Amino acid sequence: MAIHELKPNIYYVGAKDYDRQLFDELIPLPDGTTYNSYLVIGSKKTALVDTVDGTKFYELVANIKKTPCKKIDYLVSNHAEQDHSESLVKLLDIYPDAKVVTNAKGKEHLMVHLHIPEDRFIAKNDGEELSLGDKTLVFIEAPWVHWPETMFTLAKEDKIIFTCDFFGTHLSQSQPFVTDEAKTYESAKRYYAEIMMPFRKLIVRHLKKLENYDFDMIAPSHGPIHQKPDIIINAYKDWISDNVKNEVIIPYVSMHHSVKEMVEYFTTALIERGIVVKPFNLTVTDIGELAMALVDAATLVVGTPAVLTGAHPTVVSAVYLANAIRPKTKFATIIGSYGWKCQLPDQLVDMLTRIRPELIDPVIVRGKVTEEGLTKLDELANKIQAKHKELGILK
Ligand code: FEO
Repeated sequence: MAIHELKPNIYYVGAKDYDRQLFDELIPLPDGTTYNSYLVIGSKKTALVDTVDGTKFYELVANIKKTPCKKIDYLVSNHAEQDHSESLVKLLDIYPDAKVVTNAKGKEHLMVHLHIPEDRFIAKNDGEELSLGDKTLVFIEAPWVHWPETMFTLAKEDKIIFTCDFFGTHLSQSQPFVTDEAKTYESAKRYYAEIMMPFRKLIVRHLKKLENYDFDMIAPSHGPIHQKPDIIINAYKDWISDNVKNEVIIPYVSMHHSVKEMVEYFTTALIERGIVVKPFNLTVTDIGELAMALVDAATLVVGTPAVLTGAHPTVVSAVYLANAIRPKTKFATIIGSYGWKCQLPDQLVDMLTRIRPELIDPVIVRGKVTEEGLTKLDELANKIQAKHKELGILK
């Protein structure tokens, strides 16, 4: 892989993973990913900021050899998750005098997950610095984006902030910097939805804290580097705000066409009332697309048939995930169909405990939807329209 000099004596030495299709055996990666690692060569000492997934260790080593680096003194760990830390263990063997620089929580996590011995660590507190000679690193604690130990590292004189997963994208491309702003925005929003959204309230604080530091480049640990920090910072400010959009998201499954017929009728009814609708047939949906749609939408409508009286398991999985990533959804309801008995509404309420939306009366029919059922869907569309008007997101 190619290396890139971002600023004098600061190199991108990470690895691209064009082929990876899943993260955490869960998150689809339509554009692959990268594991960004940065070498900061000072006049006296050298630091490597974050490493790469273990599968790409040899690429990292080959990349380091392409730089003027003679010896690594410090291995900075902004985040202990294995896609950034797994190569630490082997690097500590290659550089026996090197120390891992992180915070106290990072040390704890790296000792637990990678069995790195305690005497290999230097633990830094929030705001503390490390001199490399003519370059200085500043460590900025930023817990819960998205693990408890996460932190940022600022190369003070060069004004580059290394933010690990924060501001990242699963986007593999040849160039080190953002080249396609629209594509990067989409990818960053998907990443935010999947990884960062549960911590929306904490991100408010982190963005405020970043205002105290001077930087003109954001170098995350996944995806391209931001040379215009305001673009990604402003995107995050929009996503974490309490503002919702005039949108209804309908994740659904249909076994015998009844639910599909309801979803199609309901989608049209909402559109006719001036609402943007995004239906997701969960049997073919990329769940990353669903997560991204949930970032802004005011209302969630779950469509499901009854399977042994409960929701379809694929729907249960999607609603579980939606609840886990904690979107700012204001309203929720359910439309569904059953054969002989169902407990769908109660089940939905039990599954949305982290979002706590206002629940609107569901429309549940028996068997194939009738004219009466369609009328109830019209009434439900009216209720959602009224709620969106109350919020001021629909004229
Ligand atoms: Fe890219 Fe949380 O690891």
